[in-house]
Amino acid sequence: MKTAIIFSSKHGTTAKVAEMLAEQLKLDEIKLFNLQHKNEVNLQEFEAVILGTAIYAGRPMKKTKRFIRRNLKTLKTKKIGLFICGMDPGKEKQAEEMRASFPDVLLNHATTKYYLGGEFIFEDLSFFERFIVKKVSKVNKSISLIHHENIKKFVKEFKGETN
Ligand SMILES: Cc1cc2nc3c(=O)[nH]c(=O)nc-3n(C[C@H](O)[C@H](O)[C@H](O)COP(=O)(O)O)c2cc1C
Repeated sequence: MKTAIIFSSKHGTTAKVAEMLAEQLKLDEIKLFNLQHKNEVNLQEFEAVILGTAIYAGRPMKKTKRFIRRNLKTLKTKKIGLFICGMDPGKEKQAEEMRASFPDVLLNHATTKYYLGGEFIFEDLSFFERFIVKKVSKVNKSISLIHHENIKKFVKEFKGETN
């Protein structure tokens, strides 16, 4: 099944997670699109689309929102997977961030949706971002909390494998 993984990533972790998904899905035809570099994707080429975004201040990245708004009608005709990358440890907050990232119609239509964790890479953050992270998350060094288990679950579910 020809599949596109379309994502927005500010500091690279969501891009890394998108690559992990692509590697583990092991599909013959899979293409990755980073919306930071490319605004539009010709969806006619694909039967399945996986959409992902990093979360900042509880919200998805604007480029993902805009892409979905422009392509919602077509997206509803595809097999859909959704993921978000963030660092909030609270399950309820993660669910809220998922709801804030994608319209209900896509959340209901999606085969698979997961929170896949994230990273703080201190060297890559601006002074302001470092300040916020220290204050809000009480973290003052780089940390990787990518949810590898959820990536595996995502892959199985998306491929329709039950166990
Ligand atoms: C300034 C700042 C604000 C953030 N706000 C949130 C947040 O509200 N909720 C959350 O789950 N993660 C939050 N994060 C964590 C990011 O989602 C996480 O670092 C993610 O891996 C970033 O992905 P990217 O490298 O693809 O941009 C924040 C990170 C920074 C630096």
